[in-house]
Amino acid sequence: MTAHASSYRVDAMIARDIDAYLDMHRNKSLLRFITCGSVDDGKSTLIGRLLYDSKMIFEDQLASLEADSKRVGTQGQDIDFALLVDGLAAEREQGITIDVAYRFFATEKRKFIVADTPGHEQYTRNMVTGASTADLAVILIDARKGVLTQTKRHSYLAHLIGIRHVVLAVNKMDLIGYDQATFDSIVKDYRAFAESIGIEDFTAIPISGLAGDNIAARSENTGWYAGPTLIDHLETVELDVTLDQAKPFRMAVQWVNRPHLDFRGFSGMIASGSVRPDDPIRIVPSGRTSTVSRIVSFDGDLDHAVAGQSVTLVLADEVDCSRGDVIAAADAPPQSADQFQAKIVWMDAEAMLPGRAHWLKIGTRTISATVQQPKYVVDVNTMAELSAKTLDLNDIGICEVYTDRPIAYEPYADNRDLGGFILIDKVTNATVAAGMIDFALRRSQNVHWQAIDVTRDAHATQKNQRPRLLWFTGLSGSGKSTIANLVEKKLHALGKHSFLLDGDNIRHGLNRDLGFTDADRVENIRRVGEVAKLMTDAGLIVLTAFISPFRAERAMVRDMLPDGEFIEIFVNTPLEVAERRDVKGLYKKAREGRLKNFTGIDSPYEAPRNAEITVDTVTMSPEDAANLIVARILEQ
Ligand code: ADX
Repeated sequence: MTAHASSYRVDAMIARDIDAYLDMHRNKSLLRFITCGSVDDGKSTLIGRLLYDSKMIFEDQLASLEADSKRVGTQGQDIDFALLVDGLAAEREQGITIDVAYRFFATEKRKFIVADTPGHEQYTRNMVTGASTADLAVILIDARKGVLTQTKRHSYLAHLIGIRHVVLAVNKMDLIGYDQATFDSIVKDYRAFAESIGIEDFTAIPISGLAGDNIAARSENTGWYAGPTLIDHLETVELDVTLDQAKPFRMAVQWVNRPHLDFRGFSGMIASGSVRPDDPIRIVPSGRTSTVSRIVSFDGDLDHAVAGQSVTLVLADEVDCSRGDVIAAADAPPQSADQFQAKIVWMDAEAMLPGRAHWLKIGTRTISATVQQPKYVVDVNTMAELSAKTLDLNDIGICEVYTDRPIAYEPYADNRDLGGFILIDKVTNATVAAGMIDFALRRSQNVHWQAIDVTRDAHATQKNQRPRLLWFTGLSGSGKSTIANLVEKKLHALGKHSFLLDGDNIRHGLNRDLGFTDADRVENIRRVGEVAKLMTDAGLIVLTAFISPFRAERAMVRDMLPDGEFIEIFVNTPLEVAERRDVKGLYKKAREGRLKNFTGIDSPYEAPRNAEITVDTVTMSPEDAANLIVARILEQ
């Protein structure tokens, strides 16, 4: 059986059971929460106790499912299981491997999903992905030990991912003789810390998971405690969705529903607020306005819909609106911007390369974005702000993020859907980070795009040519500059308007501040790409000769230009050949260890996979290569 088929089987089976279960409790509200603590703190005992006391144990079914999943050997079956629970579909599509166990239980009043994230070193990533939809966090403390480093780490992360309600469960009260003074002093310590990181409120409950004190029933052992039991609190705490419904209306368009010419609706899940027919709306970022004419749902037309519901809106006017746009209350729309400060949680084994372009997925929109060098990273154990040049696995950094176009957003603290994003590597398609928008940079709101009358087309038409960017890539000494130079001479002779940007030359001027670390090479190519783009806007045929060793940066420049204008030319010279030629004597130096980070020796070169043109310099002379390139360009 293929891995794919087996994972499908597990999914289908689990989906059936969960459906049956949720059906039973369809009309109850749902609270998602996480438990933070280690085995030593009594976490498993507490979860077991909650399941037991709620008398609705789903656990045995779970156990059989788990056994089944293990038998079919689905890699990461925990995730497949977990992500059936809606809300994490995006991570599932992106295939992040997380290690989180979800359990389901219900009481008379509510149903619950509890996510249990193990406390090992992958904790940050697990918590950020596995708990990002939780309404509440239970922070477990061993009453004998008080507030520990891990308590702080858990609390910081819970706050970071936007969990609004915190329960401080002071456990093992039985082991300290239910002593009020100890409880009070733990609460006092925790309050001081919580305030310092911005947690405004929390509910402290003295419990014993083992003895059952203050879990489902009030304990006689803590006569001094007047607050709720844990289950009372879980049953009555205000849900995020209730809070979200009170905010202004926003819905990110998931898709445009156009079954035939007479119907056009915009489908999505309402992120906040509510909507009725005749409500005035505004589409962000375009700013166009209209009114809602119908709210269509599976159950027919509605006269009212609220946050959390998936609907299709029909508008009164034929306005432009596409996937990724946000439909919002006309008088209280979200802002749009293209530069932000955000918290970035790096989740990839390879460190971040500042300046590299990634796909950024926010709400229902995917755009291209770069993350700059962190302003600082946060040590999650001490909350200290440390300076750093990059982000490593599980690092949390405060960074500026630049998107390639304005997007509708809200600070993550106000709206997780419109303020939370993930970053996807453009080459490997892996999710490498999660991010949370703090605010838009003011400069991005004050710098506007100036409309220019002499357009790109006008420039090109005057020069009687189609602008192009001929991007030569290959090892040092492969012959890029030589061939590019010949190509330009030929184009010039044919009356074409061109310009050649050459690595060694640019590094003497515009890029003289850059060296040859991976990060500097990324920035080198970004700047060259921007300059080359401006030159194509001026109507020129631009030639560039840079090693440009990384696929991601070449792809980034390709994306900056209109389709068909970026022509990647791979000057394919094997390392042995380039090294034998060693025109500048640099290979020799690198082999002797006198030159670090030399491409092909101790710094990588990622050969193009689908270059428009490849020239083989072993079998072809530079002259032949240049003729071939010119012929290919003129035929298009
Ligand atoms: S790139 O990697 O950032 O695209 P670029 O094309 O600008 O490199 O510069 C490469 C040129 O710089 C080489 O042709 C070589 O002459 C010189 N050079 C100096 N140090 C290095 C190095 N460590 N690796 C590669 N090229 C180097």
